[in-house]
Amino acid sequence: MYSISDIRVGTGYDVHRFADNRACIIGGVQIPFDKGLLGHSDADVLIHAVVDALLGASSLGDIGRLYPDNESKNKDISSRLILREVSARLAEAKWQIINIDSVVICEKPKISPYVDAMKKAMADDLSIDYDRISVKGKTTEKLGFTGREEGVAATASALICRI
Ligand code: CDP
Ligand code: ZN
Repeated sequence: MYSISDIRVGTGYDVHRFADNRACIIGGVQIPFDKGLLGHSDADVLIHAVVDALLGASSLGDIGRLYPDNESKNKDISSRLILREVSARLAEAKWQIINIDSVVICEKPKISPYVDAMKKAMADDLSIDYDRISVKGKTTEKLGFTGREEGVAATASALICRI
């Protein structure tokens, strides 16, 4: 049994705009698509939301504080590397992940064919079981910036507990 103070929840949210001549990497998976996502890093919008959910739950800061986008060492950095480093930070602070749930919001690309690969990639980086992480795709019914296919948004929740 855990006491109430041993369990914490975090939320994360991120947006990246589409751009030509960029890879479309979401949840650690390169998706074949005619546009990619723009960012200082590889612009993996889903991993960024997951990282912020984990950092929020553990009160360890946020992705922009730990990986400032004005630092050249973070240019084109793989978000999977960030996820692995954040996983290590949580373990060092004696937190373990109970589960992560997430939503990728865009009209295109279709996310569902890649959900399994995304879950595998992120579960691997976080050293957790595949069934502790969930990814879902959702449109905004053609409304707003995601509806106009200007970019992709992602949101994530993480539940963690004391080791
Ligand atoms: O039916 P509803 O309006 O709730 O959802 P939707 O946004 O029309 O999406 C229907 C289904 O398509 C989702 O439940 C996902 O399985 C899938 N989907 C996806 O794989 N990738 C997206 N970018 C959007 C939706
Ligand atoms: Zn981001």
